[in-house]
Amino acid sequence: MLSKRKINKVKLLNNKKNFRLDKFIEMALFGNNGYYLRKKPIGRKFDFVTSPEISQMFGEIIGVYLVYHWKEKINSKFNLIELGPGNGTLFKDIERTAKILPNFFENANVNLIEINKELRKIQVKNLNYFKQSKIRWSKALNFTSKLPSIIYSNEFFDCFPVRQFLHDNNNWFERYVKFNEKENKYYSINKRVISKKILDYLNKYKRQKIYEVSFSRNKYFEKICKYLKKNRGICILIDYGYNEKIKNFTLQAIYNHKKTSIFENIGQQDISSHVNFDELIEIAKQNKLQINEFVSQRDFLIKYGILERKKKLLTKNSNLNKNLLDEEVDRLINVDRMGKLFNFLVVSNL
Ligand SMILES: C[S@@+](CC[C@H](N)C(=O)[O-])C[C@H]1O[C@@H](n2cnc3c(N)ncnc32)[C@H](O)[C@@H]1O
Repeated sequence: MLSKRKINKVKLLNNKKNFRLDKFIEMALFGNNGYYLRKKPIGRKFDFVTSPEISQMFGEIIGVYLVYHWKEKINSKFNLIELGPGNGTLFKDIERTAKILPNFFENANVNLIEINKELRKIQVKNLNYFKQSKIRWSKALNFTSKLPSIIYSNEFFDCFPVRQFLHDNNNWFERYVKFNEKENKYYSINKRVISKKILDYLNKYKRQKIYEVSFSRNKYFEKICKYLKKNRGICILIDYGYNEKIKNFTLQAIYNHKKTSIFENIGQQDISSHVNFDELIEIAKQNKLQINEFVSQRDFLIKYGILERKKKLLTKNSNLNKNLLDEEVDRLINVDRMGKLFNFLVVSNL
C-alpha cells in the first residue's frame, strides 16, 4: 500500500468529492506518476507476460500475414504502425519474418505509438539493429498521412478506461470512486444516472443488468476506421475480450502476476478490461470497412500455420528444446489458456 503522500502524488482529482471510474483509471494509468508513464510492466520478471513474449512464432505468423496483404493489396509506399509496442518484441519478430520480401520494409514508414517513456527506451535499445532513422516514435496516432496504412496492436485496446453501469429497480446506477480521508483509501459508490443522453444509450442493455463501456476505446477505434476508409489499409487488433453479453464486469488489476483490487498499489499496477468486440465490429461496419477476420487467437494462429512453423523450427534446429516449444504453442492456443480469451479482429479497406 502506498503512503498517503505517494497516493496524492498520483494526482487523482483529489479535490473533488467523488469522480467517475474512468477518470480514476485514467489517472492511475496515465496521470503524473501513472502506471503506464513510468513502469516497465511486461516480462516474466514484471507484472504480466504477453503473447509476443511467450514465443517468436506469434510475431512470425503475424509477419507473414502482413507481408501477404501488403504484397497483394498495397505493393507501394505505406505506413506500418504498431500501437503500444511494449518491449518491441512483436515488431522484432515481424521485421525478421518480413525479410522474405525485402520491398516490404523499403516501402514502409514505420511509426511506433508509445506513451511510456521507459518502454520507449527499451524499444530503442531492442530495435537498435534496425535502421533507427526508419522508425518514428509518437505518443499518439496522427492521421495526416495520405498513404495506405497497416496498423496492428496486441493488448493495447484493453488499456482504455471503462465506465460501469448497473440496472436495478428500474434505475441505472454508475460506479464512482470516493476517497476516505480518515482511512486513507479509495472505495466505490453508485450514483443514479440522470443524464437523458446516457439513459437513452443504456436502455438497450436493460436486460443484461450490467453494462461496461469504454467510450474512449470506441472513439479511438472509430478514428482508425475513418482513416482506413479514407486512405485505404488494414487494422489487426489482438486483445482479450468478448462478443456476447457479460454476466460480470471485466475490469481487473494485476500486480506482479496476481489479481488485486483496483484501489491497491495505485500507479504501480496494471488496470485493464476486456474488449467488447461487438461494439468494435459495429463501428467498423458503420464505417463500411470489410471484416476480414474475427476469430479466437487459437483459430487464427492455427489457420495461418503456427503448428507447421513449430515443426519447421524443430527440423531446422536440432538444438531447440521440443518440450519448450510445445509448451509455448500450448500457452498461446490452448482454449483454457490464451487460445479462446484472446481474439483477432481484422478490418480493412483494401
Ligand atoms: C499491455 S502492454 C502490451 C505491449 C505489447 N503490445 C505486447 O504485446 O507485449 C500495452 C502497451 O501499450 C502502451 N499504451 C497503453 N495505452 C497507450 C496509449 N493511450 N497511447 C500509447 N501507448 C499506450 C503501453 O505503454 C504498452 O506499451
